[in-house]
Amino acid sequence: MALRSALWTVMTGAAQKAARALKRDFGEIEQLQVSQKGPSDFVSAADLKAEKVLRMELAKARPRFGFLMEESGEVSGEDKHHRWIIDPIDGTTNFLHGIPHFAISIGLEMDGEIIAGLVFNPITDETYYAEKGKGAFLNDKRLRVSSRSNLADSVIATGIPFNGRPGHKPFLKQLERVMGAVAGVRRMGTASLDLAYVAAGRYDGYWETGLQPWDIAAGIILVREAGGFITEANGGKDIMKSGDVVAANPKIHKQLLDIVVAA
Ligand code: IPD
Ligand code: CA
Repeated sequence: MALRSALWTVMTGAAQKAARALKRDFGEIEQLQVSQKGPSDFVSAADLKAEKVLRMELAKARPRFGFLMEESGEVSGEDKHHRWIIDPIDGTTNFLHGIPHFAISIGLEMDGEIIAGLVFNPITDETYYAEKGKGAFLNDKRLRVSSRSNLADSVIATGIPFNGRPGHKPFLKQLERVMGAVAGVRRMGTASLDLAYVAAGRYDGYWETGLQPWDIAAGIILVREAGGFITEANGGKDIMKSGDVVAANPKIHKQLLDIVVAA
């Protein structure tokens, strides 16, 4: 079963267009790994280019909507109710290192609530898409979160603070507790895909703190529409503000939350 709405057409069209250049740029990365300067300037340029294409295409289709973008920040629109929340390359470190696990992430917010989300991995050609009340999809397939009810059988993904970001010590405590209770912990480095994988039932759960709105906007609705629960680490609902996320299937969400939060 597929979901082919007007919004789907707009969002996939923009993502596909931005991805064409991104894929070419990713192909160049391997060569750049060995250059003196390294590929980071090249990646910043690829990032900006992709954001520009996304913004142009989305504005063409919905000229009055505002934007919140990782690279260019906030741009308010005439329509104060709607804004696109965009990460042109989520998983920049992977991209930079030639690791084929990154995504374009586009969320659409209406009056503070995410009503549509798309996460596109151009390398695997996987489009994860959800709209409020209409379900979550991977390409043409309807998504459901996993049905595992035992943490001991569950695979849980996470994100590790890096490069001077705060929270290293509390994270290590959380990790110690979670790894003692589950079948495996994964750290793949792309928050939007982590949430998409929870929606797809590949991961049973995921937690991370200190995320930005563009990392999670699209993933939030993917998880919800696939039947999963997503809250802050303290159980609260203000995920977009705090950037703290615990997402899981409904059977293990509370168990995961309890372990992550335990003092
Ligand atoms: C990052 C990725 C990563 C997460 C970081 C994010 P970026 O986004 O989503 O998985 O652990 O917190 O900043 O910088 O690659 O767009
Ligand atoms: Ca990101």
